Amino acid sequence: MQPPGRRKTLFSEAGIMKHRKNNNLSIFVVVFSVFLFGVFMYNEDVKSIAEFPFSRPKASEIQDDQSKQGNSVQESIKNEKEKVASLNSKTSPEETTKKPDHDMKSIVAKDDEQRLAEDKENDEQKIEKKEEEQKIELPVVEEDDEDVELPPKDCDLFTGQWVFDNETYPLYKEDECEFLTAQVTCMRNGRRDSMYQNWRWQPRDCNLPKYKPRLLLEKLRNKRLMFVGDSLNRNQWESMVCLVQSVVPPGRKSLNKSGSLSVFRIENYNATVEFYWAPFLVQSNSDDPNRHSILNRIIMPESIEKHGKNWKEVDYLVFNTYIWWMNTFTMKVLRGSFDRGDTEYDEIDRPVAYRRVLNTWSKWVDKNVNPNRTTVFFSSISPLHIKSLDWNNPDGIKCALETTPILNQSMYLNVGTDRRLFVIASNITQNMKVVVHFINITSLSEYRKDAHTSVYTIRQGKTLTPEQQADPATYADCIHWCLPGLPDTWNEFLYARIIARS
Ligand SMILES: *[C@@H]1O[C@H](CO)[C@@H](O)[C@H](O)[C@H]1NC(C)=O
Ligand SMILES: *[C@@H]1O[C@H](CO)[C@@H](O)[C@H](O)[C@H]1NC(C)=O
Ligand SMILES: *[C@@H]1O[C@H](CO)[C@@H](O)[C@H](O)[C@H]1NC(C)=O
Ligand SMILES: *[C@@H]1O[C@H](CO)[C@@H](O)[C@H](O)[C@H]1NC(C)=O
Ligand SMILES: *[C@@H]1O[C@H](CO)[C@@H](O)[C@H](O)[C@H]1NC(C)=O
Ligand SMILES: *[C@@H]1O[C@H](CO)[C@@H](O)[C@H](O)[C@H]1NC(C)=O
Ligand SMILES: *[C@@H]1O[C@H](CO)[C@@H](O)[C@H](O)[C@H]1NC(C)=O
Repeated sequence: MQPPGRRKTLFSEAGIMKHRKNNNLSIFVVVFSVFLFGVFMYNEDVKSIAEFPFSRPKASEIQDDQSKQGNSVQESIKNEKEKVASLNSKTSPEETTKKPDHDMKSIVAKDDEQRLAEDKENDEQKIEKKEEEQKIELPVVEEDDEDVELPPKDCDLFTGQWVFDNETYPLYKEDECEFLTAQVTCMRNGRRDSMYQNWRWQPRDCNLPKYKPRLLLEKLRNKRLMFVGDSLNRNQWESMVCLVQSVVPPGRKSLNKSGSLSVFRIENYNATVEFYWAPFLVQSNSDDPNRHSILNRIIMPESIEKHGKNWKEVDYLVFNTYIWWMNTFTMKVLRGSFDRGDTEYDEIDRPVAYRRVLNTWSKWVDKNVNPNRTTVFFSSISPLHIKSLDWNNPDGIKCALETTPILNQSMYLNVGTDRRLFVIASNITQNMKVVVHFINITSLSEYRKDAHTSVYTIRQGKTLTPEQQADPATYADCIHWCLPGLPDTWNEFLYARIIARS
């Protein structure tokens, strides 16, 4: 249901802003009218928006893809998403697969063993469980000493295929990472199939290095790793926190969310894994991490310093920007400055505005980043799966019924990704003074129709009700991803680069 407050926002914003005429006015009016209509009539009625070639995601679906930042780790983050859903009936329930914990957990198991020896009062069940865990983990201990083999520098990690591997994946367990927000804990939210956690990305010409959290933490010692961008980058940040946190004992790790910045601190390594909210990278009227549910999005494409000053002195920077561009064909560009109270704007074609923003960003990086200290990454588009006909499933409902990736790569696949923006980002990042690693996650993620949070997520701070879960056409979130899951693979690409740095 549409919260009444949002309608108000839409109108007050739209009323204040003086709309500038331009060549795209007529198409804008059409799109915006359809959109307005949808805002009132809910998704079913907005469906026509999905038919537009370059505005596939329903406007209302992505307007609020962000969760509110809270102060407490435990606080369930407010999700302002428009749509989310659930479909237990058609999803064939699979048993949660048990797998041996990864190598570093063996240390924890050893600690447990010692504690058990000291504390014989422990209740039997507990002991049994721990011994069981230890048995499973013992063989893995030796692997720990293996050298991690790095892929050749020139190997294309992004061309390859998804391989079922329930021995190695997931790299961590959902209920063992206390830092995951309710937005992404799909199993806890009721998802019954778990195979989406068991896929390994296998590059065609080489192997990804085996994931070892302590090796990564060694590389992050005395360093800062920061994700900058939208909620997809936050999705990846949550994954990274879980990837490193398992080997850090309780009390030596903490999460502090404050304004635009969330900092996960690992005391014994003096390392941080951070997320900075800047959905357009440049300054915009959607920069408030708590109040960004603004439909009338306006950016200042040449203004980045306000955010950029928070990115200085960071050792690993991971940027992205995409989803917030997708609910209108054009982007509104402010004439003047928010600080001066200006409200007039121009409507600019999406790719034109996107290029201006990335040019601003690239100049900032070239001017402010010392490549001797800092490694820069840019994550390419995280795709959506909102039309099951895109992968020839006439019986599907958005992404909600999908339990396996698309494995036939000879099938032509178009899930509506705006490739124009992909090309701009790829091109700009390749032509900079500072080397930027383009993390080309787009195509490999397009195969992962099974990996979205769908109806197993939250909306306005609460897990979807059974009624909402039963209506995936309205409520399925086919933008964000379950964790553990696909973003762990994105982080494996970062890992490969980070551990390769001496
Ligand atoms: C992995 O999957 C196979 C095939 O589905 C199954 O037989 C096996 O028990 C699974 N192993 C683990 C560790 O879950
Ligand atoms: C990105 O990866 C896909 C395969 O996953 C490949 O086809 C494409 O050429 C790559 N694009 C760039 C710019 O690296
Ligand atoms: C801890 O990390 C910070 C941030 O990377 C760094 O500036 C500082 O020098 C480190 N402290 C020590 C004691 O190494
Ligand atoms: C969290 O970060 C803010 C801003 O840096 C700081 O003022 C506050 O003291 C921090 N809180 C904790 C518990 O560390
Ligand atoms: C980076 O290091 C190289 C070699 O040590 C040095 O020549 C260069 O001046 C350094 N660049 C910066 C920006 O510090
Ligand atoms: C894969 O897709 C292609 C093109 O749609 C089709 O010709 C082929 O039969 C498919 N292969 C399998 C194994 O389904
Ligand atoms: C890529 O960038 C170069 C130089 O900035 C430019 O000449 C070229 O036209 C661009 N190509 C595309 C496909 O945007």
